[in-house]
Amino acid sequence: MSEKQIYAVTGAFGYLGKYIARRLFEDGNVDALRVLTGHPDRSNPFGARAEVIPFHFDDPQQLAADLRGVKVVFNTYWVRFSHGDISFGQAVANVQNLIRAAAEAGVERFVHISITNPRIDSPFSYFRGKAVMEKTLIESGLSYAILRPTVLFGKEDILLNNIAWLLRRFPVYPVFGDGEYRVQPVYVDDVAKLAVELAHSDEDIVCNAVGPETYSFNGLIKLIKERVHARAKIVHVGPATGLLLSKAINRLVRDVIVTREEIGGLMADILSAHDGPLCSTRFSGWSEKHAGSLGAVYASELDRHYRVVS
Ligand SMILES: NC(=O)c1ccc[n+]([C@@H]2O[C@H](COP(=O)([O-])OP(=O)(O)OC[C@H]3O[C@@H](n4cnc5c(N)ncnc54)[C@H](OP(=O)(O)O)[C@@H]3O)[C@@H](O)[C@H]2O)c1
Repeated sequence: MSEKQIYAVTGAFGYLGKYIARRLFEDGNVDALRVLTGHPDRSNPFGARAEVIPFHFDDPQQLAADLRGVKVVFNTYWVRFSHGDISFGQAVANVQNLIRAAAEAGVERFVHISITNPRIDSPFSYFRGKAVMEKTLIESGLSYAILRPTVLFGKEDILLNNIAWLLRRFPVYPVFGDGEYRVQPVYVDDVAKLAVELAHSDEDIVCNAVGPETYSFNGLIKLIKERVHARAKIVHVGPATGLLLSKAINRLVRDVIVTREEIGGLMADILSAHDGPLCSTRFSGWSEKHAGSLGAVYASELDRHYRVVS
């Protein structure tokens, strides 16, 4: 084991990655944190304790050098959809390079964030890409923990926040299909806690990281609607109509609110797991406590990742 406790987190200025970094610092035995990010100029909440390194996915030697001396790599890097010059294929290749660089650098453990129900033969690029990255890690020879969360909730969330935003602002909310497919939301800090716990194990692990409550999508929308005191009428629409409506909203918010793949994944009932939940925070309780801010402001994926943000 290395004497110095050096950790690396991809995306530690992002959503889940920030919670992982906070948990590491709270643990109190971090000598240094290397933040690997696509936005090295973004404001750094960890100050001098964090060394900020831009992604060098296309330079394997530099990437390995960035990871030399690191005890554990936490990888949160991934893209929600192909956009601009970043495709799912490119994101998979980037993570594969990261895994190989970690092995080359002698990293002791690799903690990787995946998704529930990834499958190499999935019809959805997101879930297929996640399965390919898992396979690369498992075959890499590195000691690993793979966490498979469902939809995350927390203050910085995009997906559930924007459902609340839509419910607050529009008279009608379209649910895709019958809405009976399930979602098992998980609190972002519970996943971070689990990731840090599993970093300290030396067992190779693949586990679901899901919350204690399972909702049908209809039930989830009903709960969020109650929380934000929305009056929107819930209507059921086919996925093609839903996508068309979402494109109209995209123009309004200058974002991509939902993709065809996300609608497909949701309706395919793969955002829940069948084993016991490892995370305990209930969305029902959290959403009650944060009802005032839930969906009060739209959260933009494109602002976060494609436009200049400080
Ligand atoms: N959010 C959810 O509800 C959810 C649900 C299930 C699984 N997950 C998984 O959890 C992990 C973390 O998700 P998150 O929501 O916390 O992600 P995030 O903070 O938004 O991003 C994580 C990392 O990916 C990079 N990234 C994201 N989109 C990018 C893009 N379009 N182009 C270039 N880089 C991009 C970020 O770059 P920067 O360093 O430049 O910020 C950051 O390093 C991901 O692997 C995701 O698949 C998330």
